[in-house]
Amino acid sequence: MFTALLCLVFTAGDGLPLPAFSQDEWTILRSMSPAVLLPDKTNKYEQNESAALLGQHIFFDERFSSNKEVSCATCHEPDKYFTDGVQIAVGTGQTTRNSPTVLNAAHQRWFFWDGRTDTLWGQPIQTMEHPAEMNIPRKDIAELIEKDKTLGPLWEKTFGSMKESDIDTIAANVAKSLAAYITKLDASHAPFDDFVAGDKEAISPSAQRGLQYFIGEGGCLRCHFGPWITDGAFHSVGVGPLDGGALKDSGRAGAIDKLKSAQFTASGIHSDDPDGIRATISKHIAKRREDWGSFRTPSLRNVAKTPPYMHAGQLATLEDVLEHYSTLENFVSADHHRETILEPLNLSEQQKLDLVAFLESLTAPLPEKGLLTAPD
Ligand code: HEC
Ligand code: HEC
Repeated sequence: MFTALLCLVFTAGDGLPLPAFSQDEWTILRSMSPAVLLPDKTNKYEQNESAALLGQHIFFDERFSSNKEVSCATCHEPDKYFTDGVQIAVGTGQTTRNSPTVLNAAHQRWFFWDGRTDTLWGQPIQTMEHPAEMNIPRKDIAELIEKDKTLGPLWEKTFGSMKESDIDTIAANVAKSLAAYITKLDASHAPFDDFVAGDKEAISPSAQRGLQYFIGEGGCLRCHFGPWITDGAFHSVGVGPLDGGALKDSGRAGAIDKLKSAQFTASGIHSDDPDGIRATISKHIAKRREDWGSFRTPSLRNVAKTPPYMHAGQLATLEDVLEHYSTLENFVSADHHRETILEPLNLSEQQKLDLVAFLESLTAPLPEKGLLTAPD
């Protein structure tokens, strides 16, 4: 209380007041930092070094695509914070969604914009076999690894002889290796975290005002909360399709059936924790009316580095995102469902600048250099 009063008398360099955070606000801030990854028990190779090394090799290797031109890094480029900078991803064909970053991806409960996968290792084989992404069948993936003079021995060291495994177990282990590599891609310590830890100058006065608005009046916290600044759930914020008109992408609604019929899941036979909490939650998931046209709330960590925004890259800049929340002018309702908790915020120019400054304070340095290219 006393400190709060003291802070009020200081003004920021730009002549505007430096916000004082109340005890309640500090409680919220402490719930947003630090961000720490929890282990994924469904992948027993998650912390295995040779699995991660194998995953890193595969991640950067264009041979794992039908035209030998596409690797995971084509759409998840390290120097673009593991995104590609385009609206809709292009691989061996044209996809329909924006490439999210894989930095910190391991923190998630659900993967992909619609959450159609419930483990990190459930994702890669879908991508590799997808006609528009890498378009390579699992038996070709296995053959490439087995015959390669670097990957073959690394595989044996990690998983034993390929000859003794069936093709689906091989595919699951390829996926678990990629997940082990991605789990190392941690970029979660930003200036914002130093601010919460007590360094008052870690973020600018403008960022502090943006933060106060974000957790208060702006209502952003209703969906973007906790250390990863997301509720991990699915909502519609009314951003329409790239070519205008009504929503076409069914989002979360289309994902539930895919999740139930997917091969590589937390509860499936290739999981290393089929009776655990992840598996149990997935088993009880049911379709809800509001799922149609909903997408996963993205983590806002490193968001300033990953334009364009939203599930189809519809919004080019952070300013555009804020303009959307400010006016809701082009709000496209998902038919029978409208997210009633969103109201136009009518942001002033200063409030937009402050919010952008706050979002920029969530940028962490990239992981160590050795993880940003194919291994030597
Ligand atoms: C053609 C571009 C492209 C390629 C190649 C590609 N990805 Fe992706 N990736 C995407 C897109 C687009 C999404 C989101 C798809 C969706 O939500 O439907 C995605 C989603 C993901 C996710 C989920 C992230 C999240 O936040 O849920 C992970 C993890 C991932 N990719 C890893 C990989 C790995 C590993 C490879 C290589 C085996 C790979 N990607 C290859 C475009 C690509
Ligand atoms: C009702 C829940 C909800 C609220 C409230 C909300 N968001 Fe979001 N936010 C989302 C969802 C869901 C998406 C992704 C939507 C999509 O792709 O269609 C998103 C996307 C974003 C993105 C783009 C991230 C990316 O990687 O593409 C930013 C930035 C963002 N929100 C910031 C904010 C700010 C700032 C506020 C407060 C002014 C806010 N959000 C309020 C749910 C919400």
